[in-house]
Amino acid sequence: MNQPIIIAIDGYSSCGKSTVAKALAKRLNYVFVDTGAMYRAVSLYILRNKIDWQNSSEKEIEKVLDDITITFEFNPDSEQSDTYLNGENVEEEIRGKAVSEVVSEISQIKSIRKRMVSLQQKAGAKKGLVMDGRDIGTQVFPNAELKIFMTADPKIRAQRRFNELKIKGKQLTIEEVEENLSTRDYNDTHRKENPLIKAPDAIELDNTYLNEEEQLNWVLKVLQEKTS
Ligand code: DC
Repeated sequence: MNQPIIIAIDGYSSCGKSTVAKALAKRLNYVFVDTGAMYRAVSLYILRNKIDWQNSSEKEIEKVLDDITITFEFNPDSEQSDTYLNGENVEEEIRGKAVSEVVSEISQIKSIRKRMVSLQQKAGAKKGLVMDGRDIGTQVFPNAELKIFMTADPKIRAQRRFNELKIKGKQLTIEEVEENLSTRDYNDTHRKENPLIKAPDAIELDNTYLNEEEQLNWVLKVLQEKTS
């Protein structure tokens, strides 16, 4: 494949979107952008600064956004890209319980979505990009050359997330994880601004019974079919 393209990966929470997106970006030598991390970083800033986001106007939120810079930097130890909020590495903290509990509500705010979408579009200006999120194939890059919509059985998703958090030493029960995922799925699919929906031209990947290698091979095959 010679011409760089945009690959949009959308889907429910904890479907393994980032895992597939990262592996794909590595294989194709593309840039990977985790848009969920951007909404998480904004949420962390709002929590830390005790901003009353539920009672703030869109204009007030816009001002808050002016004070936020989100960047990604490669971490040679983990061989992954870490999220930085105003120059501070917040990769660990944005995955914690406090942020996970509010992020799907905070990400419904119109001015936040508008700002994030614009940053994401800039990141894809040169193509050669794999981006994962909820509205990438529908709003951010409606003309993306390849769109994947990921799903998996909710029980399996919760178990995977639980295992991941356990390894990181996070103290959550499986019930709490299930509850958080189902609330976020509900919020993400029912919000007014850019809800999570499958783009008509997206190809669905149900990875309930697929391991990471099988998923990557599935996407590479689809990509080959699309571009040949
Ligand atoms: O991908 P994630 O689970 O880290 O995303 C966290 C939250 O961010 C998710 O519940 C909804 C929101 N989000 C969004 O609204 N739009 C995106 N493109 C990505 C994430």
